[in-house]
This record gives sequence, C-alpha cells and structure tokens, in this order.
Amino acid sequence: MSTFSEANRKAFNELSETYNTKPWQQKLSSQVSEALQKREDWIGVQWATPGDGRDVRLLDYACGTGSITKALGPYVTTIQGIDISENMVEQYNKAALSSGMKPENANAVVGDLFAEKVPEHLAGERFQGFDIAVIGLGFHHFEDPTLSVKRLVERLKPEGVLVIVDFLPFDHDHQQATDADAHGMAHTIKHNGFEAGEMEKLFTKAGLEDFGWSVLAEPATLEFERGTVDRTLFVARGRRPATTWNKMMTWASGMQDQLGGQLDPRADGQHVPPGGHFGLRADGT
Ligand SMILES: C[S@@+](CC[C@H](N)C(=O)[O-])C[C@H]1O[C@@H](n2cnc3c(N)ncnc32)[C@H](O)[C@@H]1O
Repeated sequence: MSTFSEANRKAFNELSETYNTKPWQQKLSSQVSEALQKREDWIGVQWATPGDGRDVRLLDYACGTGSITKALGPYVTTIQGIDISENMVEQYNKAALSSGMKPENANAVVGDLFAEKVPEHLAGERFQGFDIAVIGLGFHHFEDPTLSVKRLVERLKPEGVLVIVDFLPFDHDHQQATDADAHGMAHTIKHNGFEAGEMEKLFTKAGLEDFGWSVLAEPATLEFERGTVDRTLFVARGRRPATTWNKMMTWASGMQDQLGGQLDPRADGQHVPPGGHFGLRADGT
C-alpha cells in the first residue's frame, strides 16, 4: 500500500466512529443521496424493478459507512462495498445488518483497487461486472485519478456506468489549513476539487462514453473547528461501451421486433387497441 493510501487508511480508521454523526455530515450525506435519486434517469442504469428477476449490481467504492448504499439501495439488488479503512468497513457492515440487509445482498470488504498489485481477494466474480460503480466524496482522496478511473472501469460490465460525486475546485491554502486544523486530514487530500473538463478527459481516457456532468444548486456546508466552508458538489457520469457482441444482440433483437411486427396479425390494424400503433396507452397518455 502506498504511503498516501496508508495515510487515508489511518485517518479514516480514526474518524469512522464519528463519521456521519454530526448534523452537517448528515445533511451532506442527504444532499448526495437526493442528488443521485433525482438523477435516476440521467444516470442511465436499467434499475431493478420488483419482480423482474434481474440482478442489478452496485459497487460502492470507498464506501465509508455506506451513504451511497443507502441512497441507491432501493434501485439495485446486490451491493458490494470496498474501502481501504477496516473500521469504516466494520461500520458499513454493522449498518447494513441493522437495516435488515442480508450480507449476500450488501456487504463491504477492506481493499484498495489502486494498489500497484490489486489484492487477490478482489479478483473473484463478486468484484466484477457491475451495472454501476459509484464513488461518493472519495475521489479527492485518491492519489492517481487516472489510474483510479481505469481500475473502476475494468470492474464494470459492458454498458455499465461510472458515477463520481465530488467537489468543484475549492480554495487550496485556506481549505487545507482549515481541514488540517480540524481533523489532521490535509495529508489525505490529493486534489482540491475537479472541473468538468478535467473529469471528461479522465473519463474519455479510460474509454468511457456518454459523459454527463451536473452541478448541484445548493452548496454543501462543511463545519470544521476553525470555521465553516461552503463547497459545490457535482455528479459526473460515463458509460463503458457495449462490446461488438452486445451491439449485435441489440441489432438482432431490433430486427426481431420489426419482423415480428410485420408478421403480427395486429399489424394490419384490425386488432390494434385504440392508440396502440404508437405505443400509446388506450387512454391516449
Ligand atoms: C470522505 S469518505 C466518503 C465515504 C462515503 N463514500 C460517503 O459518501 O460518505 C472517503 C472514503 O474513502 C476511503 N478511501 C480513501 N482512499 C481509498 C482507496 N485508495 N481505496 C478505497 N477507499 C479509500 C476512506 O477510507 C473513506 O472511507
């Protein structure tokens, strides 16, 4: 583990018991949660719907105590948390159990996907092929953003989506000093926020398509011992391209629909319910 990652591990181990206990932390977590839920269509994942039998899998990377899991839990069927801090992982698993989630549906493990050599315990099927991977407020703590995006993209299934929620650039000197005074966290922060162009480049370089960028209107207020600071949150989204096989399957199923339509006795219009030709419901909505 790099010195920088080790610094993060230690610092978040110490913070884990009080993380998300103060009102400003809870408000920040709700802001992130609402931001994701309001953008459920924009994110562009085929979310789980009751009874459809599909497994929709979320990777909550740098999961902390589980804010992202709480926000997106109702939309997916299986959640894998990963965090570098063993104490955060412990808090996550406690919270998941006490909210009635079964470990096979939501659990977290200790790990660092950005290590030079990715640990073997993160190699299994359980850690691959996600429909969506989300990093909530962790990205500015990662040493190498290019490598981080690349390693997470590798864990997505074709057409899977990567979402990053983080801060727009914030005042370096003032902020670092304030954070350092308050929590001794300055040495865990590598980047003082990100801009749209920077994020788009990172996503494109990692092979993601369909870049999306959305800035939250309401600033997040962080309260440190030396004072309060406002930061602006963004949500960035990108999609792993479909494989040639996926594209062929989509094309084939489109053809099948068309041919099916031509052969369908209803296509002569005699048996189509009112409004049926354009997929309208019979009541015209
Ligand atoms: C600010 S917290 C965010 C936690 C949570 N996602 C949330 O939204 O509340 C950042 C988290 O990133 C984790 N972290 C830092 N570096 C990491 C790395 N290289 N790999 C995995 N987790 C890391 C920390 O342990 C911490 O739990």
